[in-house]
Amino acid sequence: MNIRRNGQSDLVFNIEWQGGQTGAQIDLPDYLARGGYQALRRALATDPAQVVQTVKDAGLRGRGGAAFPTGLKMEHVRDNLELERYVICNADEGEPGTFKDRFVMTHLPFQLLEGMTLAAYAVGANRGIIYIRYEYPEAQASIRHSIAAAVEAGLLGDNILGSEFSFHLEIFSGAGSYLCGEETALLSSIEGKKGRPRLKPPYPTQSGLWGKPTLINNVETLANLPAIIGRGAVWYRSLGTADSPGTKLISLSGDVNNRGLFEVPFGVSFREIIESCGGGIKNGRKLKAVNIGGASGVVVPPHELDCRLEYGACAKREITIGSGAVFVLDDTRSILDNVRNRAAFFLHESCGKCTPCREGLRQVNRIIGALCGGAGTASDLAKLERYTRTMQQAAFCGLGQAAGNTLISSLAYFRSEYEAACRDVQPAAKKEGTA
Ligand SMILES: Cc1cc2nc3c(=O)[nH]c(=O)nc-3n(C[C@H](O)[C@H](O)[C@H](O)COP(=O)(O)O)c2cc1C
Ligand code: SF4
Repeated sequence: MNIRRNGQSDLVFNIEWQGGQTGAQIDLPDYLARGGYQALRRALATDPAQVVQTVKDAGLRGRGGAAFPTGLKMEHVRDNLELERYVICNADEGEPGTFKDRFVMTHLPFQLLEGMTLAAYAVGANRGIIYIRYEYPEAQASIRHSIAAAVEAGLLGDNILGSEFSFHLEIFSGAGSYLCGEETALLSSIEGKKGRPRLKPPYPTQSGLWGKPTLINNVETLANLPAIIGRGAVWYRSLGTADSPGTKLISLSGDVNNRGLFEVPFGVSFREIIESCGGGIKNGRKLKAVNIGGASGVVVPPHELDCRLEYGACAKREITIGSGAVFVLDDTRSILDNVRNRAAFFLHESCGKCTPCREGLRQVNRIIGALCGGAGTASDLAKLERYTRTMQQAAFCGLGQAAGNTLISSLAYFRSEYEAACRDVQPAAKKEGTA
């Protein structure tokens, strides 16, 4: 399958990529001239249940990390007997190496606003909130300005486009916590409580903001809706694969020639992403490893890169697509440094509520620090594995459950680097490492 590069005109986002420069913001007149808000007009003329059905038929899955079927989530909110409902856009984008939602908010704000309005109509919500990362002042300004323009044009607010449907949208600024991107912590944060995760079930679709049914979706997920409703499920399924229809925004960074944001159809291989989008490895160096899925993702060696970007194929290889961050490491990079960096990040962001995550991360950081300082031993490697598995199985929320993904995969693929750092592993054994 060929990768269709950004700037081509038949994808969902059609993002322009020109030597690291992205195009200007698409303002409301521009967006309307490109067919914007046709999908909303069409939706308002049909039954909301039909909108939900189209999203289900399209096979859209959440782009925030968990890949839950979006149409099903919508149906759960829609079917709830409680009449007060909310739509929340998760724009916290805290995953290191991920910058797609910022791009959508600053360059394609009306695609997101139309998507949220479609979602609200589908589930019967009259109020919505965009929870935007604190460190994104430009995105906050862009969305604030765009909401005002949409209200002025009758595309938001009371009686949208002359219909009986009303939808009021506001911005909530995050306060700088990675954990608040977790949907239940995000709800607590909006409600003025500590941004800590809640027990699930009940899920937000059952009991979300202020205890009301709430649809929470990622920016990219919601910004897919105008294309799906406007062009139909069959068109959408012509992109990507049967398992994973549509396209994915990839935040590509690290040691490649072209770093940036790319839209690719599902089904391309990670190797194609690195070679065709990234233009290969910088300075003619060799590829050593690739971090896929952000800090909570995995690190894999070059021979795994023929795996296709597809939920099913990746699950079989234990690769996490996550938010779509791809970080490339050349042969000068240290895997241990990479893992140390991530472990420190998670220790900093852990809320401390549950023991496996709070204590597990302390121990993991202590051991990796010892290994990096030349004081680690072979028995430490077994402990690292045990602590990480415990976090995966027993941590209360996704942060602790995923915090060890990079570590576990690096132990499987790059064990020799760990062994080389152990003071009690013999040089001969060190040479026989399994990288
Ligand atoms: C620690 C943690 C951080 C998260 N951060 C984000 C985030 O910044 N943005 C996001 O959309 N989802 C994030 N998620 C996933 C959300 O909990 C939730 O699954 C998502 O917003 C649902 O939207 P989707 O179905 O469109 O993917 C995070 C999850 C965890 C466990
Ligand atoms: S897993 Fe970590 S972040 Fe999540 S509740 Fe437990 S301590 Fe807090």
